[in-house]
Amino acid sequence: MTRIDKNPSNGANAVEVRGMVKHYGETKALDGVDLDVREGTVHGVLGPNGAGKTTLVRVLSTLIQPDSGTAMVAGYNVLTQPRQLRRVIGLTGQYASVDEKLSGWENLYMIGRLLDLSRKEARRRSDELLERFSLTEAAKKAAMTYSGGMRRRLDLAASMIGQPSVLYLDEPTTGLDPRTRNEVWDEVKRMVAEGATVLLTTQYMEEAEQLAGELTVIDKGKVIANGGVNALKAKVGGRTLQIQPSDPSQLTAMAIAINDAGLDGLAGSQAVPDDGLLNVPILSDEQLTAVVGLLGARGFGITNIGTHLPSLDEVFLAITGEKPADAAEDIVSDAIPQEVSV
Ligand SMILES: Nc1ncnc2c1ncn2[C@@H]1O[C@H](COP(=O)(O)OP(=O)(O)OP(=O)(O)O)[C@@H](O)[C@H]1O
Ligand SMILES: [Mg+2]
Repeated sequence: MTRIDKNPSNGANAVEVRGMVKHYGETKALDGVDLDVREGTVHGVLGPNGAGKTTLVRVLSTLIQPDSGTAMVAGYNVLTQPRQLRRVIGLTGQYASVDEKLSGWENLYMIGRLLDLSRKEARRRSDELLERFSLTEAAKKAAMTYSGGMRRRLDLAASMIGQPSVLYLDEPTTGLDPRTRNEVWDEVKRMVAEGATVLLTTQYMEEAEQLAGELTVIDKGKVIANGGVNALKAKVGGRTLQIQPSDPSQLTAMAIAINDAGLDGLAGSQAVPDDGLLNVPILSDEQLTAVVGLLGARGFGITNIGTHLPSLDEVFLAITGEKPADAAEDIVSDAIPQEVSV
């Protein structure tokens, strides 16, 4: 697996969005969105269904006109320089857009030619990308015979043909089986390692953790949180202090001591005998010091202390009030048919 530096130092912005607004009737699909994506990074845009993710990607791809707001992508103005912009971006839309009648290879070759690649180069890129996405064996079959997962991979390959400097991936792995999901992730990492910038929308927290350095959470067309993965976790969910007593039989007594002490702003503590741990949700360093001090003053011995950040799922739930999609739920439905898988 290719490793990427998720936080390269202070590059320029490849994407800058300011005050983006797009209304559909009463619906505020985008309601004043600001977004910065640093060059050479993967930026995750998270949000529940209907948050405005696809609308944002469509505006940034010049597919729809916003009502107001500005956006610069790879140095081009999305509103006034759409032609130049289209030459340097790649898009994998949320819904696959391959030509059903053409074979996988023909789909890629055609797009390569449309992007002005020479015949030789278009052929080389098509072969290379089919190989990377495990589609070589199915290369000559019409796309209409492909499973959902295969179409998705073909779509991703198509968006990468022209080696775009900025790539938009709108929920790229929804409906993919775990193996294919990993292939897509590896390919994204590889593109970023080669210098591309990726704007990724996703409802999968694992995907965001795997790929994105910075995140922007949107809901009802508005940015409701942004920052690095760990910064968001720390900001939103607080931490859990995990204490391992020297004497495991004292776990319950320790929990009672903390709960009875009524320390300022502390919600309580919970003994987890199976792990031999006492979990105490804390919101500040002062609470951490107070809990440890209290246990020491009461004569409890401590072997180990750690703090644990909330998962990104917990963060998402805390700020949007909705559970993120469960990656396991829609896996397999698009499993690759045996006869054409490699
Ligand atoms: N062409 C359209 N006409 C009318 N309403 C639209 C249109 N496109 C999007 N919307 C509305 O705008 C809002 C944002 O939609 P959008 O597709 O951008 O959300 P999303 O974050 O991509 O959701 P999902 O996770 O389901 O893909 C929704 O309320 C949607 O119903
Ligand atoms: Mg969408």
